[in-house]
Amino acid sequence: MLSSAGVAAQAARRRTFAVISHPDAGKSTMTEALALHARVIGQAGAVHGKGDRRGVVSDWMAMEQQRGISVTSAALQFSYGDTVINLLDTPGHADFSEDTYRVLTAVDSAVMLLDAAKGLEPQTLKLFEVCRQRRIPVITFINKWDRPGNDALALMDEIEQRIGLKPTPLTWPVGIAGQFKGVIDRREGTFIRMQRSPGGADLAIEEEMSDAEAAEQYGADWETATEELELLAMTGADHDQAAFLSATTTPVLFGAAVANLGVRQLLNILVELAPPPEARPTVAGTDKPVDSAFSGFVFKMQANMNRTHRDQVAFMRVCSGRFERGMIVTHSGTGRPFATKYAQQIFGQGRETIDEAFPGDVVGLVNATALGIGDTLYVSEQVQYPPLPSFPPEHFAVVRTDDTSAFKRFRRGIEQLDGEGVVQVLKSEQRGDLAVLAAVGPMQFEVATYRLETEFGVKVKLDHLPYEIAAITDAAGKEILRTESNVEVMTRVRDGALLAVFPHRWRMRTIAGRHPDLRLDAPMDTG
Ligand code: G4P
Repeated sequence: MLSSAGVAAQAARRRTFAVISHPDAGKSTMTEALALHARVIGQAGAVHGKGDRRGVVSDWMAMEQQRGISVTSAALQFSYGDTVINLLDTPGHADFSEDTYRVLTAVDSAVMLLDAAKGLEPQTLKLFEVCRQRRIPVITFINKWDRPGNDALALMDEIEQRIGLKPTPLTWPVGIAGQFKGVIDRREGTFIRMQRSPGGADLAIEEEMSDAEAAEQYGADWETATEELELLAMTGADHDQAAFLSATTTPVLFGAAVANLGVRQLLNILVELAPPPEARPTVAGTDKPVDSAFSGFVFKMQANMNRTHRDQVAFMRVCSGRFERGMIVTHSGTGRPFATKYAQQIFGQGRETIDEAFPGDVVGLVNATALGIGDTLYVSEQVQYPPLPSFPPEHFAVVRTDDTSAFKRFRRGIEQLDGEGVVQVLKSEQRGDLAVLAAVGPMQFEVATYRLETEFGVKVKLDHLPYEIAAITDAAGKEILRTESNVEVMTRVRDGALLAVFPHRWRMRTIAGRHPDLRLDAPMDTG
């Protein structure tokens, strides 16, 4: 057994984060660049690239490829110096989707990647909102500085005005977007000249240059940058670790992932400033220390990632202690033992057996049909982590199949998708046996339909229902709502919650106004 000091030291070495961004801002490129810097791969492009995505293992992945979405990657782990970096993948499609949010329950910090020419885009804002609710510290990386874009100070203003985080740039660009010469490290006061390597596939060429030399070489660009730095200093935009950790400020870095510019600085900042795994709150109201006995929770389920095996993988984040493959853990929901013989690290098609893992690491548990999203696993000391957030669905559809011979598979498929949290499954008294699928984003329906057909061999039809807002109610509320029209109360199969669904927000408000005792809670619980 590793001593608790040993586990604490392992936890302290870890940085577990996700990149939040709008599609096309450069998340895949940044992932490759980070991995390149950590030298896990020889050349940028080997993790995955949209045009040349390796590792097509299923039709499901073919759909991802076609749609440019990524759902099967889970966590990329690499060492950088003495630090172990766990980069958790957030699905990249533009739609609102629940799985992205769940990933954010498993990280300790986030990198908000912005396209210099576009600033804050809708998907970034939505993801940032989740970070805000969970008080996740956010580092901002302004990407694509090699291309014409917005003014650096204007971008700082945009961040502060629109999301209320005070930007505290750690590096500042010399040269406007499109004429990137390098960055000034604001804390060191040094200028680092940056050039892409020939072809751009290798580490950037960086050299420190004296102010005098830089002033001579870069004239007006240098002058502008130094003036801007004075302005920043006057507004107190300096890094403050406590403010960053309490998610009120965001350190900012500039670069261009495609040319590996500024990526080294980002890694160094993750190591230096991003928080390591810390004691995690439990439902009992206490915090479980990282160096206590092993515990973890499942934040993502994915079935049939490998069609030849038809397996089901539960992705677990280790929260405390040392995980050892083969250990028998307890499933806190049922109290049953769960054997962890098949523990793997999974990224895209790549799989490797994991023998041990520490707080902050992600373990893929294969053949985990007994597990579900949000489940806690532990040894020796009973613990339960809060349930994962459930989001208010905004799209509803009755799902049916005309193929009577496929009924069993149909039912199994629906159960599977519900268990994985691909969609929420609801039942309504008014609709008898029919299942209603509910989703936060319409893409979830597309994924469900596709998977029912390809994995379960069932062609289904969706009849969309005219509802767009849901709220949690109770048995008394259900009775009250029987007297109203244009509202339906459905039971969420997953947890038995009663969801009142309405066609519009104003309809919900009118009804709520008429019945002051009616319970209508937003079903979003951010844990
Ligand atoms: P995503 O995962 O966030 O959706 O973005 P991705 O990395 O796929 O990048 C989207 C596009 O932006 C890609 O171009 C990529 O090369 C480009 N890009 C990423 N980072 C930078 C950067 O720092 N500077 C510049 N100039 N471009 C960048 P594409 O044309 O869509 O694809 P590709 O053919 O170049 O791969």
